[in-house]
Amino acid sequence: MRIDIITALPQIVEGPLDQSILHRAQDKGLVTVHVHDLRSFATDKHRQIDDYPYGGGAGMVLKPEPLFAAVEHVTATASTAPDEVIFLTPDGEVLDQPMANALSLRQHLVLIAGHYKGIDQRVRDAFVTREISIGDYVLSGGELPALVLVDAVARLIPGVLGDAQSALSDSFQEDALDAPVYTRPASFRGREVPEVLRSGDHQRIAAWRATQRREKTAERRPDLLHDTTDTSL
Ligand code: ADE
Repeated sequence: MRIDIITALPQIVEGPLDQSILHRAQDKGLVTVHVHDLRSFATDKHRQIDDYPYGGGAGMVLKPEPLFAAVEHVTATASTAPDEVIFLTPDGEVLDQPMANALSLRQHLVLIAGHYKGIDQRVRDAFVTREISIGDYVLSGGELPALVLVDAVARLIPGVLGDAQSALSDSFQEDALDAPVYTRPASFRGREVPEVLRSGDHQRIAAWRATQRREKTAERRPDLLHDTTDTSL
């Protein structure tokens, strides 16, 4: 998969992309991420990327020219046309696991991280195929949401995680939260690992986990249970 991130603050996204699973995904050639500095697409001598909003109001708006140039640069230089051009915004549809699953099947995503008050509407009208929010709160820019999206999607690509099963057994993959997990030692500061997990009885372990998942989901996220298709819950 190829991912292009267009941002006015490339340093924010570059650090995390160089670490851990996102680094490994790129190292293995499973994901290629290109970060584009919006300012390098500014055409005027001050390299201005934002301006005051027409009609007044607080905040600055990202100008259309550098964003058009950046998206056109990506489409002209990439060997695959983008499947989606995604604008990260609190206005968008809220990211969830089914959306991440669907996006992980795409070949080429372009992410636009906005800043300031927003981006000129003409960019949205001309290029954006999807608007995605990472939750009902407002961040100061789209860089962290872009990273959240890249992480949620990249870890689903086969081969990115060491254990292919672990992405599938995550919380939310089956509309339920995860059961508690433990590792050694069996006893730590007076707290014991539940006996069932040490029993070696896989049927009992599966039944215990299903109960834990159902109880935790009912308590914390009853909204997830209504459309569950997992009959073990
Ligand atoms: N930009 C600012 N806040 C955001 C959010 N919650 N989701 C996506 N992009 C954003």
